[in-house]
Amino acid sequence: MMKRNKNLILNDNINMELLLNSQKKPDLYAANEEPFWDDPHISQQMLEAHLNPAWDAASYNHKTIDQIVEWMVKYLDLKENAKILDLGCGPGLYCTRFSRHGLDVVGMDYSRNSISYAKKYAETNCLNIQYIYQDYLTMDYSCEFDAIFLIYCDFGALSDCRRDLLLQKIQKALKPDGIFVFDVFTRFNWEQQSMRNWYVSEAGFWRPYPHLVLEQTFHYEEENVFLNQYTVIDSGGEVSAYNLSDHYYSKQDILQLMKEHGYQVQDVWSNLTGKDYAENTKCLGVASKKLVK
Ligand SMILES: C[S@@+](CC[C@H](N)C(=O)[O-])C[C@H]1O[C@@H](n2cnc3c(N)ncnc32)[C@H](O)[C@@H]1O
Repeated sequence: MMKRNKNLILNDNINMELLLNSQKKPDLYAANEEPFWDDPHISQQMLEAHLNPAWDAASYNHKTIDQIVEWMVKYLDLKENAKILDLGCGPGLYCTRFSRHGLDVVGMDYSRNSISYAKKYAETNCLNIQYIYQDYLTMDYSCEFDAIFLIYCDFGALSDCRRDLLLQKIQKALKPDGIFVFDVFTRFNWEQQSMRNWYVSEAGFWRPYPHLVLEQTFHYEEENVFLNQYTVIDSGGEVSAYNLSDHYYSKQDILQLMKEHGYQVQDVWSNLTGKDYAENTKCLGVASKKLVK
């Protein structure tokens, strides 16, 4: 991709056009021009968030992860050596726990930093887990897995076209009667979260040196999508925008979507610990069975 001039200082003046453009609503699911998951600094910050046991950022807090894994092993009746795949496995918080239950685990992620941490952790702790650095949209398995997981509401980050491709690949990768488990936000998660905000940081999540961050939320009502945009400006005037989209779903949307893609929804909960579904839940936990065509 050709990089546009993204400097706030143009011929000793403030580049107002650039600032004005930064306020415009981006295209639906606008991609990032900068790396996000694989940016060395951002991915390190993300890793620290994953590994903090008390934080509900990047991953659920570790107590919730324990509960999810315990519930999933019981609910899915996963026996020793059942083969599972964790998509977007990050540093392997779920893979580690599933492996300790005796399951045959594959974790896939395209953050080098997270995969490298996960591999080292597995080696040090004598866990036999296969970690793969790969974009899960390019995977190509046939009838291999008893269960596939996509956890921490990453399903909603996918555009419709990428989501449909992933559903197709997961369908193919599951054994007959295999189960796909994921979670996703509902509109109730977003109702009070719209932002239009700015701050200056000495060093933080976006950069290891002083920078200014402009944050704003855009809503695409017809498509049920929220997009959080973070415009980061460093002291040299370099401007980078990061777009994080989320397609929110209702229970009805999920039932319809999964049916269209050849799955039968077995259960919908308010989260992946198996909490009963409630009308105003902020999140849905979904378990769907592959329908054999
Ligand atoms: C919010 S984190 C959640 C990580 C993990 N599921 C957890 O809950 O601890 C999302 C992860 O998905 C990975 N990811 C996002 N899109 C991906 C893709 N297309 N292929 C592989 N990994 C992806 C990111 O690198 C990141 O590690």
